[in-house]
Amino acid sequence: MTFNAPVITIDGLSSSGKSTISVLLAEELGWHLLDSGMLYRSLAYLTELESVDVNSEEKIHRLMNNFKLSTINESNIYRVIYKNKDITDYLNTESVGINASIIAKIQFVRDLLLPIQHSCIKEPGLIANGRDMGTIVFPKAILKIFFTADIEIRAQRRYEELLKLGEDVDFSSVLSLLKARDEADKNRNISPVKPAHDAQIVDSSKLNIASVLDKILELYTISRVK
Ligand code: DC
Repeated sequence: MTFNAPVITIDGLSSSGKSTISVLLAEELGWHLLDSGMLYRSLAYLTELESVDVNSEEKIHRLMNNFKLSTINESNIYRVIYKNKDITDYLNTESVGINASIIAKIQFVRDLLLPIQHSCIKEPGLIANGRDMGTIVFPKAILKIFFTADIEIRAQRRYEELLKLGEDVDFSSVLSLLKARDEADKNRNISPVKPAHDAQIVDSSKLNIASVLDKILELYTISRVK
């Protein structure tokens, strides 16, 4: 597959900081942004909302006929539209995340989402974040970043994020759910989370956001002169 615009992929485990940095990078470069986790979250949310069996390929296919990605209001960030309604703001809860991790193990779901993700490549470029952006979805990306961070630090970030969303959570359950999701995402047979062989590893545990952004911009500049 040849791309008609450059792609930078940012993969990593949950709460590794990839979403925050992707938004900043997309703003800095003026590129489009695809948060692919949102697609799995959408299916998790919609199968529950519409009482669809997650193992029925036909039913999931039908659900996806009403599903599209779109950028709105001058923003370059793709949002999920279902039956002409923007559902993006309903997707960030802990329970939707857990169900998304289960749905993400199904091969036909991943296959169905592939062309949707490819359709997001638009000029001047695309930042795509998730688990398999560099390995499976955009293997020809010009720059591939893989984010890591200590589990305690990731759990703290997720805990603060959930508190801000008004969820009633405690730190120790956030930590154990994160560990369980790490295991599920790393050890599944299909598209497990791992760095692409040509990915640059960035450990965000001790770096602040501004220095992570600088580092990625520097890697991007180097990738352009190669
Ligand atoms: O990044 P996130 O927490 O929004 O992702 C939700 C789930 O979706 C995550 O547990 C694994 C899955 N996922 C995936 O399998 N592949 C992707 N490219 C993105 C997310």
